[in-house]
Amino acid sequence: MTRAVSVGLGERAYEVLIGPGLLDRAGERIRPFLKRGRTAVVSDETVWGLHGARLTAALAAAGIAAEPVIVSPGEQTKSWEGLSDVCDRLLARNLDRGDLIVAFGGGVVGDLAGFAAAIYKRGVDFVQIPTTLLAQVDSSVGGKTAIDTPRGKNLIGAFHQPRLVLADLDVLATLPDREMRCGYAEVIKYGFLGDFGFFEWLEANGPAVLAREPAALSHAVARSVEMKAEIVAEDEKEAGRRALLNLGHTFGHALEAEAGFGEVLLHGEAVGAGCALAYRFSAAQGLCSAQDAARAGAAIAAAGLPTTLAEAVRSPPRADRLVGHMAQDKKAEGGRLTFILARALGEAFTARDVSSAAVRDFLISEGALP
Ligand code: NAD
Ligand code: GLY
Repeated sequence: MTRAVSVGLGERAYEVLIGPGLLDRAGERIRPFLKRGRTAVVSDETVWGLHGARLTAALAAAGIAAEPVIVSPGEQTKSWEGLSDVCDRLLARNLDRGDLIVAFGGGVVGDLAGFAAAIYKRGVDFVQIPTTLLAQVDSSVGGKTAIDTPRGKNLIGAFHQPRLVLADLDVLATLPDREMRCGYAEVIKYGFLGDFGFFEWLEANGPAVLAREPAALSHAVARSVEMKAEIVAEDEKEAGRRALLNLGHTFGHALEAEAGFGEVLLHGEAVGAGCALAYRFSAAQGLCSAQDAARAGAAIAAAGLPTTLAEAVRSPPRADRLVGHMAQDKKAEGGRLTFILARALGEAFTARDVSSAAVRDFLISEGALP
């Protein structure tokens, strides 16, 4: 069964289709958005090797020629060099303003191809075909596109909404278990930030989601996308409520920066640990109960995700360095740190006046070096 979730953004509204077998029908779904029978497909070597032939055949069946633009897998591709390379290859293929780019891969490909689409010839349309759980429940929806720089993640980018998102649950069959767990961190984040019922459902059904049982996976992706779509429709440019989606991300970004943005700690793992830390920090500040913080941590740990500094990074980090990474965060304003904190499970809020000294003390209590 295909589920459809609308992202209600007026003339830029679009649908997120979720279900099995969508890749094989991608051509007929994408055709209405094309002015001529060709499209550039940005993908990474791994995804293209596993699923590229099926997508090419599906596009061909609808009379669409696919021009592949294949990049190296991994976060390092989301860089100025990676962006320049993709734009250059689009130019070499004479992609016109009326043409469309397909982003076929995980969040790295989606963010990179989406940003290229935002700036290529001052902007072309694009379609997201997310192939990781993380990309299906988060990065492919909402129009945030970006690259990293040595000074931090996602610091250069644009809001550019896709015309359509095709989340084919079947492609997740080839996703490594570790990447499934990373996506699951973003799924449980929705339960934490605004839907206690969904959190409880995940406590019971998390193993089925991680095992890719079709009904559980479909519900988890659809509920996550529904929540994201509702928030994005209300606050597209993150003037307010959309910031809630960053639950776990301020701690998480600092851990990722400390671990060097690589294989040691993947983004979703950092978000998992970041959510656990955000709940414990909330409890330490008297904002939520210690029981809720413990229950949040237990649910994250049950999915095999890290929940502590020691599990997230190899050697004990220095508290000041972590706070320094946080100050680089896009959400930091005027020396005060912005965090998404919690009053309860399913009830997060934005705290804009968090003192760095309180965060530092908390990190030391968590095992960071003074
Ligand atoms: P990723 O794109 O690096 O994919 C993870 C790995 O899985 C890669 O090696 C990839 O080749 C492989 N892969 C992808 N699909 C596969 C499949 N079906 N089968 C087998 N292997 C597959 O990582 P990700 O976790 O999808 O995305 C992380 C990125 O997303 C980060 O850069 C993060 O900043 C970004 N992000 C963006 C947003 C947003 O709103 N734009 C939200 C969350 C995360
Ligand atoms: N992943 C956070 C957002 O889309 O706003």
